Amino acid sequence: MFSTLRFFLFYPKIAPDMYLTHWLLYFKTSRVWFQKKKLYSIGNNSEIRPFVSLNGTNSISIGDNVIVPPGTILSAMPNDIKNGIFIENDVLLGPNVSIYSATHKYKDITIPIKKQGYTAKKVLIKEGSWLGVNSVIMPGVTIGKNAVVAAGSIVTKDVPDNCIVAGVPAKIIKKLGENDDKEK
Ligand SMILES: CC(C)(COP(=O)(O)OP(=O)(O)OC[C@H]1O[C@@H](n2cnc3c(N)ncnc32)[C@H](O)[C@@H]1OP(=O)(O)O)[C@@H](O)C(=O)NCCC(=O)NCCS
Repeated sequence: MFSTLRFFLFYPKIAPDMYLTHWLLYFKTSRVWFQKKKLYSIGNNSEIRPFVSLNGTNSISIGDNVIVPPGTILSAMPNDIKNGIFIENDVLLGPNVSIYSATHKYKDITIPIKKQGYTAKKVLIKEGSWLGVNSVIMPGVTIGKNAVVAAGSIVTKDVPDNCIVAGVPAKIIKKLGENDDKEK
């Protein structure tokens, strides 16, 4: 019983299959305490909401004013902040966004992939950007400042600042700037 409790409180993961970890997210006082305890760092006014799946929480850093909504998947290698997931201030996450800095090794054809171990590369989501519903960000990617990732995109390469990317794999469809968005 105590070892299960200790596992839920200290293992670097928050997920629906560790049910206590979600109950704590429903109430402000326990959420603020618990998200600070689990993540490498989390800024002011940021919230981890129930029904997220966060693996390797001690390799995840989140800035100020970021809501991590239900359905979000953030997957990093535990104890590897150098290759972790960094979400800067004021990033907007749509529903069911998935961000992976860790992935399986697969190149040795003599070993089943599930036994080959993992590899990880830092993911950086820069301030003010927006990741649309169901988008997937792959290991090693940087999303630029105020960039937009369109709904359903799979991002495999870096995205420059102030650009909209869309599709699978995601490509630049628009550059945001002075002459853009005449509706303003
Ligand atoms: C990226 C987005 C903001 C672009 O909106 P927009 O500037 O109005 O762009 P448009 O609708 O004019 O589309 C421009 C082009 O991109 C394409 N496009 C837009 N969204 C796309 C998507 N998700 N995937 C692939 N292509 C897309 C359009 O088909 C269009 O192509 P065309 O020029 O060949 O006709 C919007 O499509 C989007 O994905 N929003 C995210 C919504 C969301 O996640 N909401 C959750 C709330 S947080």
